Amino acid sequence: MPDDAVNTEGIPADEERIVPMRLQRFLARAGVASRRGSENLMTAGRVTVNDVVVTELGSKVDPLVDVVCVDGRRVSLDGDKAYLILNKPRGYVTTMSDPQGRPCVASLVPTRRYPGLFPVGRLDVDTTGLLLFTTDGDMAQLLLHPRHHVWKHYVALVRGVPTDSQLDRLRNGIRLDDGPAAPAKVSLLDPLDLRAVPVIPEGMPYGHAVVGLSIREGRKHQVKRMLAAIRHECVRLHRDEFGPVKLTGVEPGCWRELTLAERDSLRKVLT
Ligand code: URA
Repeated sequence: MPDDAVNTEGIPADEERIVPMRLQRFLARAGVASRRGSENLMTAGRVTVNDVVVTELGSKVDPLVDVVCVDGRRVSLDGDKAYLILNKPRGYVTTMSDPQGRPCVASLVPTRRYPGLFPVGRLDVDTTGLLLFTTDGDMAQLLLHPRHHVWKHYVALVRGVPTDSQLDRLRNGIRLDDGPAAPAKVSLLDPLDLRAVPVIPEGMPYGHAVVGLSIREGRKHQVKRMLAAIRHECVRLHRDEFGPVKLTGVEPGCWRELTLAERDSLRKVLT
């Protein structure tokens, strides 16, 4: 546990080396608790490093060497867990294998490098955009649990131009056939807005509009059904945000790992 080693704090998270690091940062990164919560665990004497109780908040650990335990249970960084996002193209089903032989998203992500990789939730076959993958079952369950209200942002190309009062019905929680949808955040997007690009690939069709919607539920075809309920058929749908994670730097059909900062921010929405 060298205390005089290079301080990694302050270096942008995705460029950061992970050794050595402050113990409370290690605990937070491992998902044990927030940074402050981890400090409390340390000062309460519940954290050991190589079998020695460590209460000093400036202590550092080498995650590759030191054995860190909380209440006697080993804690490790998620070096063995994978978190990545795919920019899903149209025409791919959200499954890891398809008995009908349709193209599935599994063929677009590194399943050999990360055995056990699976998608967190699903997008319809004709929906494009951000699909999160992980090998971390606990994290996936938490992200999908309604209790955590993880906001997802979608961009929809719709037939016709919705009125303010129609959009208000979505904002107030529109009734669907399986019960009312939770209130959504909704706005009309300028077709020149960069976020609109994925749903208008061949130019803006006449008599259509682009709607941005954030919802925190994940019911089947939910966005399309919400738009149908205000009588505006959704003709293209794209997801560009999942909680704090944005679909940046990924071309359609490609994937990238989440940065450490993105993993941390996802964990934060779960606390
Ligand atoms: N809502 C839908 O209607 N379809 C999707 O793929 C995702 C959200």
